Amino acid sequence: MRVHNQVAQGMTKKSSLEPGTARAQGPATRDVLLTDKHAAPSPLLEESPQFLGDEDIPFERYTSQDYFDREMKSLWPRTWQWACREEHLADTGDVQVYDIGRYSIIITRVDEDTIKAYLNTCTHRGTRLLDGEGSHYSQGFTCPFHGWSWHLDGAIRNIPGRWDFPHVTDATHGLQEVLCQRWGGFVFINMDRDAQPLEAYLGVMTEHFDAFPLDRRRIKLHVQKRLPANWKAAQEAFMEAYHNFETHDSPHGANAQYDIFGKYVSRFIHNLGSYSPQALSDYPGDKWRDPPMTEQEMLAGLAVEGRTLAEGETAREVAAQTIRENLGAELGVDLSATSDSIILDSIEYHLFPNMFFFPGIVVPMVYRFRPNGMDVDSCIFDLMLMEPLPDDEEHPEPPEPIHLSVEQSYTEVEELAWLAPVYDEDTGNLQLQTQGFKNAFKGMTLGNYQESRIRRIYLTQEEFMQQAEERS
Ligand code: FES
Ligand SMILES: [Fe+2]
Repeated sequence: MRVHNQVAQGMTKKSSLEPGTARAQGPATRDVLLTDKHAAPSPLLEESPQFLGDEDIPFERYTSQDYFDREMKSLWPRTWQWACREEHLADTGDVQVYDIGRYSIIITRVDEDTIKAYLNTCTHRGTRLLDGEGSHYSQGFTCPFHGWSWHLDGAIRNIPGRWDFPHVTDATHGLQEVLCQRWGGFVFINMDRDAQPLEAYLGVMTEHFDAFPLDRRRIKLHVQKRLPANWKAAQEAFMEAYHNFETHDSPHGANAQYDIFGKYVSRFIHNLGSYSPQALSDYPGDKWRDPPMTEQEMLAGLAVEGRTLAEGETAREVAAQTIRENLGAELGVDLSATSDSIILDSIEYHLFPNMFFFPGIVVPMVYRFRPNGMDVDSCIFDLMLMEPLPDDEEHPEPPEPIHLSVEQSYTEVEELAWLAPVYDEDTGNLQLQTQGFKNAFKGMTLGNYQESRIRRIYLTQEEFMQQAEERS
């Protein structure tokens, strides 16, 4: 009878727990934010978890040429994507070339207020106009084949042998313009002339980033690396903190928070300088929980040395204050009102399909993952570190990207410091995952909460491509 009761109780308990509602033990991210001395801004206190199902995701999504071709046809030419920063186009005539798969876009500053984007293709017989990616200066564009040329605003400047082309006008043969809109200092393009405005697409991000504006950041470092995985697998390696324990040998992130805001935006927040031994109670080994790390040890883990905590002080508050003062002075930026969470935490917003924005100060990244040309199994990972810019300063000239091949280690980039081995660890997994995808009978299984953002992208992408296919 007693056994029966236990089973019955167990079953009741199990069925009352809706899928996706289970959480790690110990304090939640929000609990930590609520005890911070410098209070977190309200967007960070919002929680928006979503359970989106638990079915496997087919590996073909990452390996199949057909799926890749569908993306080339129905995803990339129809979606918003950041192509460069405004500071890449500081002066009239500055030009940036952005390639995505088989597409190439020219972005240029036409005058002080106007930035425009065009297909990088001659309207005569289709020759690519500007070779290579990256920045140039130009007074206009000239095709290397027969010398047709255009002004910065896309209007025809000259057609050699004009007498033979009475049927050619600006309306028919000006450069082919694509949508170009700006947000947070980023220049976005969209090849779909009927696309919804960028602002609507950004959803909560426009409001959330009011508290931590990215237009007042400068690019401190830009690394562009080839990764040995499909662009989706590569970006998904950065969307959960679940792998931290095994891959990075780190106790942080077991109780990270995962939010989904509509179809295009998701977020994680994972606290640094505070971890809960309870949250790790179902991970193997006892390295991090027995005995639990002290606040003093956590402070050392945040690279604050030589400071003994007083009674009642926490690692988070002291680390945040130290960074606030030291980094604020170094950068010439007033961080006195910046919350502990923005200073310390890994806060990552993802914008569909392939963009990441971190509002943090110690973790100040921007990522973008693109197919590497037309190769299914590799991608280009743009990683930028974005430093706060003093109020009265103009944006300096941005640094040229540092290019790393698949084989090169991030440790070759000195400025990445402690981040370099972390990125190397993530890259190591990608190679193995790409191999494993092709050796599998079943699909990818996801955690209901910690990996929900990956499922959100999957569902959004399926719907997005299906709608595009119906329209065409
Ligand atoms: S193809 Fe460009 S000018 Fe002829
Ligand atoms: Fe990682």
